Amino acid sequence: MAASTNRYPDACTMVIFGASGDLTNRKLIPALYNLDVDGFLPKNFAVIGFARKPKTDESYRAEMYEAVKEFSRTKPIDEAIWAEFAQRLHYAQSDYGNPDDYEKLNERLREIDGAHDTKGNRLYYLATPPEAYPTIIEHIGESSLCKNFEGAWARIIVEKPFGHDLASARDLNTHTHKYFREEQIYRIDHYLGKETVQNILVFRFANGIYEPIWNRRYIDHVQITVAEDIGVGSRGSYYDHAGVIRDIIQNHMLQLVALTAMEPPVEFSADAVRNEKVKVLKALRVDTTRGDGTIRGQYGPGKVGKSLAQGYTQEEGVPPESTTETYLAMKVLIDNWRWAGVPFYIRSGKRLPKRVSEIAITFKMPPLLLFSDTMGQQIEPNTLALNIQPDEGISLKFGSKVPGSGENIRPVIMDFKYGTSFDVPAPDAYERLILDCMLGDSTLFTRSDEVETAWSLLDSVFDRWNSGSGSFIELYRAGTWGPKQADDFIKADGRQWRVL
Ligand SMILES: NC(=O)c1ccc[n+]([C@@H]2O[C@H](COP(=O)([O-])OP(=O)(O)OC[C@H]3O[C@@H](n4cnc5c(N)ncnc54)[C@H](OP(=O)(O)O)[C@@H]3O)[C@@H](O)[C@H]2O)c1
Repeated sequence: MAASTNRYPDACTMVIFGASGDLTNRKLIPALYNLDVDGFLPKNFAVIGFARKPKTDESYRAEMYEAVKEFSRTKPIDEAIWAEFAQRLHYAQSDYGNPDDYEKLNERLREIDGAHDTKGNRLYYLATPPEAYPTIIEHIGESSLCKNFEGAWARIIVEKPFGHDLASARDLNTHTHKYFREEQIYRIDHYLGKETVQNILVFRFANGIYEPIWNRRYIDHVQITVAEDIGVGSRGSYYDHAGVIRDIIQNHMLQLVALTAMEPPVEFSADAVRNEKVKVLKALRVDTTRGDGTIRGQYGPGKVGKSLAQGYTQEEGVPPESTTETYLAMKVLIDNWRWAGVPFYIRSGKRLPKRVSEIAITFKMPPLLLFSDTMGQQIEPNTLALNIQPDEGISLKFGSKVPGSGENIRPVIMDFKYGTSFDVPAPDAYERLILDCMLGDSTLFTRSDEVETAWSLLDSVFDRWNSGSGSFIELYRAGTWGPKQADDFIKADGRQWRVL
């Protein structure tokens, strides 16, 4: 992967817009603290939090202490490291709509640059509601925040969602490009920061045995699942405008498809990797030979594990008449020489029986069955499963003779688990991605054309849904694997969803 662990980032100040929010509390500050614990944070580094709630530097530090205590990967807090880390945290009470607050921020930045000797390098992190992105970008661009020091860099990390359809993503790209060059823009998809997701490329391109069979001649189909057991929680009003298609499919799942299907890049550089991913996204098409190629569902009340769960329309912030999908299954095809005719079935949903994400590659059956009919019936196709979470690892299923004189074949599993094979705990995705941004490495961030190509695929789905020619919303009981129609959907192709 990008060689960030061997390099040391430049001095810099990180400005977090949305410094009092959930993402900052649960992910960003704990990630920075852990980078410090692991010795990756530059010595000359500072943070300025930007949000409306009144706080002083001291009260902000105290709140962030509690956040780190609760959400840090490394526990317990190392008090000596924290004491130094806390001195780098600052807070600027501000409203993103008020231009004066950016000038005040600029003054504060100059002071902090001086106090921490951060050389004028700035990393702006947009962790506010997405509606605020254009305003913040414009104010940063129009004020002197971007152009202070000769030779210093300014980079901007933009949280997901990046747009809500192709037109809005294009507008946001155009708007951002008015003030930042593409190489300064880091569109984050935290899935790409997960070790197991990065390992897809290592697995494929650092091993000689898989690539020759990674194509339509040997692969029957691919299934990608991102299942969550939780409901929408307190995100009901956001989620109701997004649905699973915008929340998960457009970003995480299409990235998983792209990484699984891409050609080997000519080198391991940001643009070479992203060029190959874009080619896959351009070749993607939803298979509409049966219906519109999608099955949409929404969870009703049910039981997940031992707990009763209310239905989606009873959730806080969700209108009772909502028809937003909380489950989506989709069949996509990739029109290129490697993948023509190999279906990729993708499914994602909330309130499914468990939290699990995996990519499963099912190979074709042997061309000739040499065994008796009874034995032949026991043979299952080889399946390679890349488990992304929670049991990170890779497993290969193949048929084996059951010991003894009987004629029995049983599938067995060859299993690699990250947890037991490596002693080193994996860093959180945000640690990896923030560090990469400080290092100026955008390999694991999405480029403008990538994000637009992904949206253009989904725009065709939205068009069918909006015109009434798409699939209907089917109810499924919380705690089940989605609507029955999803089973029928894949069965119609003579296949079935993996039992997870
Ligand atoms: N939470 C996650 O796990 C997660 C995961 C992936 C992506 N994201 C994305 O990250 C972004 C933030 O999510 P979140 O869950 O952290 O949201 P959140 O908890 O609602 O936080 C929003 C932040 O924006 C600030 N803000 C709102 N209006 C403001 C204004 N007028 N001026 C200045 N600051 C303002 C809020 O601070 P004040 O109220 O103090 O002003 C708060 O700090 C969203 O785009 C979300 O889609 C979040």
